[in-house]
Amino acid sequence: MPIDPEFKSKRQVVGEHNGHPVWGPVDPPKVLGIHGDKVAVDFDLCIADGACIDACPVGVFEWVDTPGHPASDKKADPVNEDQCIFCLACETVCPVEAIKIFVE
Ligand code: F3S
Ligand code: F3S
Ligand code: ZN
Repeated sequence: MPIDPEFKSKRQVVGEHNGHPVWGPVDPPKVLGIHGDKVAVDFDLCIADGACIDACPVGVFEWVDTPGHPASDKKADPVNEDQCIFCLACETVCPVEAIKIFVE
């Protein structure tokens, strides 16, 4: 199941993390929500494949540790989403389609 492209109309911002919004629901450590605004990563889908980190030409992502999460114990966090040049590489390479880019 990929990230819901309509999540912004269905979820609410429940917090902030590394300068970006977190879209709920969240119930750590097992439910972590979606991180980001322009570059959105569904932490509950991410399996820590890392292809997005390798593919991004401008270093948008950094690992964050998420011990106790059922899918993986680290996630690609869009800490530098403001640097995104909308190349869409990350969306394409993620094996579980956990990423959705919102082109301005
Ligand atoms: Fe990087 Fe994805 Fe943007 S690969 S440049 S975060 S579209
Ligand atoms: Fe996670 Fe997909 Fe990146 S599984 S680490 S968001 S390639
Ligand atoms: Zn985050």
